[in-house]
Amino acid sequence: MLKVNNLSKSYQSGNQVYPVLKNISLEVEKGEFVAVMGPSGSGKTTLLNCISRFIPHEEGEIFLADRDISALNEEELAKVRNQQMGFVFQDFMLLDGLTVFENICLPQIIARCPVVQMEEKAKTICRLFGIEKIMEKYPAEISGGEKQRTAVARALMNQPYVILADEPTGNLDSKSCKAVIDAFLQAKKELGATVFMVTHDSFAASFCDRVIVLKDGQVYGELMKKGSRREFMDMLLDTIRILGGDGNDNE
Ligand SMILES: Nc1ncnc2c1ncn2[C@@H]1O[C@H](COP(=O)(O)OP(=O)(O)OP(=O)(O)O)[C@@H](O)[C@H]1O
Ligand SMILES: [Mg+2]
Repeated sequence: MLKVNNLSKSYQSGNQVYPVLKNISLEVEKGEFVAVMGPSGSGKTTLLNCISRFIPHEEGEIFLADRDISALNEEELAKVRNQQMGFVFQDFMLLDGLTVFENICLPQIIARCPVVQMEEKAKTICRLFGIEKIMEKYPAEISGGEKQRTAVARALMNQPYVILADEPTGNLDSKSCKAVIDAFLQAKKELGATVFMVTHDSFAASFCDRVIVLKDGQVYGELMKKGSRREFMDMLLDTIRILGGDGNDNE
């Protein structure tokens, strides 16, 4: 579903060039829930921003459902981002002036979908995520976990090929974190959604099928879930410890 081939990216500061992503290759299958972990500064956010083409890369290709999107122009990209990618950010990015329901409808409004079909769809997704009770509320009136579940619901509205999420549980307590992960698991199970999530949280990552570990802008390794979630989480914690730090400077 998503394939990255030999991606390289550097940032320039004055005369200095800092390589941030070095020859990254990875693949995410349809219906897979994959996390990217790695120490702070290892290039996780940069990778996500390159995949969505929000920032330019120097080398490599990005395939979304077998289509090379690395050379599309801005107009084509806008369409791909609206219809084939769903985004979930750490700080939710909900529009304060719109209700939960209206926020969820937004991707279809942008895509000019028929209203009746859109409203049906939004209601179905709200029911699926157990947020139908807060549909008429505004973002300021709901909890962090509810905001993030709303953001996940919105990301699913156009049935994207892939959901890209950067630290979606980063601002949440453990209960709300689990609620967001449950939303992803449900999206995977009920809608066959494909999720690619950057996180420094081993607990969140332990619910994934597979974890790609980045170190200094390179793929350091990949861990497949085997055995119980608990065992997988211990494996992730060990790996992150070996790499030095859990990626979160505050802990
Ligand atoms: N706009 C930018 N200009 C220059 N350097 C940048 C820019 N954005 C990020 N970097 C550098 O690139 C490296 C990778 O940053 P990135 O944000 O991708 O890391 P990360 O793995 O997401 O880290 P974190 O876990 O802290 O979010 C870091 O060394 C960072 O300082
Ligand atoms: Mg980051």
